[in-house]
Formats: sequence, structure tokens, C-alpha cells
Amino acid sequence: MKKFEVAVIPGDGIGKEVVPVSLKVLETVAEVHGGIKFDFQSFPWSSDYYVEHGKMMPDDGLKILKNFDSIFLGAIGNPALVQDHIALWGLLIKIRREFEQSINIRPAKYFKGLKSPLVNPNDFDLIVVRENSEGEYSEVGGRIHKGDDELAIQNAIFTKKGTERAMHYAFELAKKRRGHVTSATKSNGIFHSMPFWDEVFNEVKEEYQDVQTASYHIDALAAFFLTRPQIFDVIVASNLFGDILTDIGGAIMGSIGIAPAANINLNGKYPSMFEPVHGSAPDIVGKGIANPIGQIWTAKMMLDHFGEEELGSKLLDIIEDVTNDGIKTPDIGGTSSTEEVADEICRRLKKAVSV
Ligand code: NAD
Ligand code: IPM
Ligand code: MN
Repeated sequence: MKKFEVAVIPGDGIGKEVVPVSLKVLETVAEVHGGIKFDFQSFPWSSDYYVEHGKMMPDDGLKILKNFDSIFLGAIGNPALVQDHIALWGLLIKIRREFEQSINIRPAKYFKGLKSPLVNPNDFDLIVVRENSEGEYSEVGGRIHKGDDELAIQNAIFTKKGTERAMHYAFELAKKRRGHVTSATKSNGIFHSMPFWDEVFNEVKEEYQDVQTASYHIDALAAFFLTRPQIFDVIVASNLFGDILTDIGGAIMGSIGIAPAANINLNGKYPSMFEPVHGSAPDIVGKGIANPIGQIWTAKMMLDHFGEEELGSKLLDIIEDVTNDGIKTPDIGGTSSTEEVADEICRRLKKAVSV
């Protein structure tokens, strides 16, 4: 019996709704598999925790998390209670940084039964490899002066190591897929970082003669996501470009509530963290209508990470079938609740494996 110890952080808002039902799905996966077991330990670290303790997690929070095989997180952010930059830098970004989760993998694909807003959504299937530890998300800078002279400075930091790492990851991934990597650049507009980004991309691609490449400015690339997403296989993007592209990725599938993500630690020193693309959705919290698919597909990415790809693919097929049969939440045109969608996925998992 293989046992996986998973730290669970439901976080804020709909994180508290989509995480519990996803754990039920994972329990069902373990049950039908028979040879794996999850040991979930839940932590209440969130904006509510901040209100009570003055911090997003205890001082030894990272020490506690370090011993787990992975972290399964919902979403962080409740601007009514805590300012976003405090909440996010105190938990989510802190974990990504301290645990060297340098790559964020974010797939988007045409999904049976989903009403994409695109005129021609047929069969797109792409993965954004988002650089996850540096770039535009830097603490370097600050606010100076007061009054009318006040200004804010934000420095982006692109290291050769970090940039190469993201690109190598993208090329290796493309070799296992359709052999194509697109670089998201802006060398016409972001003066120091993006010409550098292009240079590194051109160097790295020399090592992968069997992989085709393309390079588009991020503005044009964002438009291509809407007009012809089928041209993309793997896209490598900086931290902020990747962030924005992947909300578009969710939107062209039909809802941002579907898009999954995995923050990967490559050196094996720390756990990786699995959390969907979407946030805590304060506008729908408490209504029982949050789409659980983003979180459940994220659970599938965690299964892949644990080497359980076969069950992972089965789970994704079932998610797609359930959606196609109209059991879906209102954001994608259905009338089902968060629970109903997840329960149906569990029911079909049991059925599929018992036949
Ligand atoms: P959001 O992703 O929470 O919501 C954007 C829109 O998408 C909302 O209308 C929301 O209802 C809808 N939506 C999101 N997930 C959904 C789901 N599963 N089912 C149905 N509809 C869904 O983005 P936002 O409104 O910009 O941010 C809200 C809060 O979440 C902020 O505090 C923000 O900083 C935080 N946030 C956290 C994460 C994270 O923890 N990974 C990611 C993004 C935003
Ligand atoms: C995401 C989120 C975060 C990010 C925010 C909440 C800091 O938007 O995971 O996509 O920008 O990385
Ligand atoms: Mn985002």
C-alpha cells in the first residue's frame, strides 16, 4: 500500500467549498484503486486565521508543511478582511517561494459538454508553463515621496538560471506532447527583461532540434488564445504573463472555475503544491454553486505527480463525461450544486472501476 501524506489548506471563500468535495473524490480514487491511501491533514490558515492571530500561518508553518508529500490548496484572499498583498504574500506566494516551486503548470483544453465562448473552440489542447518564482513578482521596489510626488517602483527580476529552468521544462514537456513550444515575449516593449528572455529562449531551443518553436508578443498571443488556440501546444511564459494567459485559458474552456494548476518543486527538497487557477470568488461564496472541476482536475494533477497517471486520466475522462451529461454548475450553464457535481464524479468512478 502506497501512502501519500497531503497537507490540506482550504483557505478562503469558495476554497472551503471546493476543497472538501475534492477530498471526497480523492478518497474515492483511493478506494477504487485499492493500493493507495491518502493521509490528509487540514490547516485553517486563511484570512480568518489572520484576523485571529495577526498572521496568515503560524511562524513554524513552513516547517510543518515541509514534511508532507504535497500541499493541496483551495484559494487565498478575502479583501473584506485582509488586504490582498498581505494575505497572498503571507501564505500563497510565501509557500511558492520558500519551497522553490519554480514551475507552475496550467493546462487548458477543449472540453466535451462545455460551452466555450469561442466561435471555433474545437480540440484545442495547450499547457502554459509559467515561471513561478521571479520575474514581475518581485519584492524589489517600493513607494517613495508623499502627496503629488508619490511614486511606486516595481523591479522585475529575471535570472538566467530561472529563465532557463522554465524553458527547459517547457521543451521537455513538449517532447512528450506534440513537440511545439511557443515563447510569450514582449521584446518590443519591456526593455531589459524581454530581449534577455528571447536570447535565453534562442539558446535553449538549440538543444532541442526535434521541437518546433514560435515566439509571439504577449499582446498578440493573448488574442490568438481567442482566435486560434489550436496553434498552441506548450507555451512558456514569465510569471505575470503566465498568470494572465491562464485565466484566459480558463475562460476559453468555458469558465475560470475549471482551470487546474500545479506548482512544482523540481529539486525534490520541498513538497509541490496543487491549487486551481481561480481565486476565492467572494461574489458566489456560500451559495453552493462554485464549480468544483478546477479543484478536482487539480487533484488529478496531484495524482499524476504521485505517479498515478492511469487513474488520473480516468478521473479526467469522468469529469468530462459528467459535464457532457449536463451535470454542471451555473457558471457553465447548469443547475447542479458543487456537491452534486462531485458526488456524480465519485459515483461514476466507483462504477467505472467495478465493471
Ligand atoms: P476569482 O478567480 O476569485 O473570481 C473571478 C470570477 O470568476 C468571479 O466572478 C468568480 O465568481 C468566478 N469564479 C472563480 N472561480 C469559480 C468557480 N470555481 N466556480 C464558479 N465561478 C468561479 O478572482 P478575483 O475575483 O480576482 O479574486 C478574488 C480573491 O481571490 C482575491 O482576494 C484574489 O487575490 C484571490 N485570488 C487567489 C488566488 C489563489 O489563491 N490561487 C487566485 C486568484 C485570485
Ligand atoms: C494565481 C493568482 C496569484 C498569482 C495571486 C492571487 C497572487 O492570481 O495563482 O493565478 O498572481 O500568482
Ligand atoms: Mn491568477
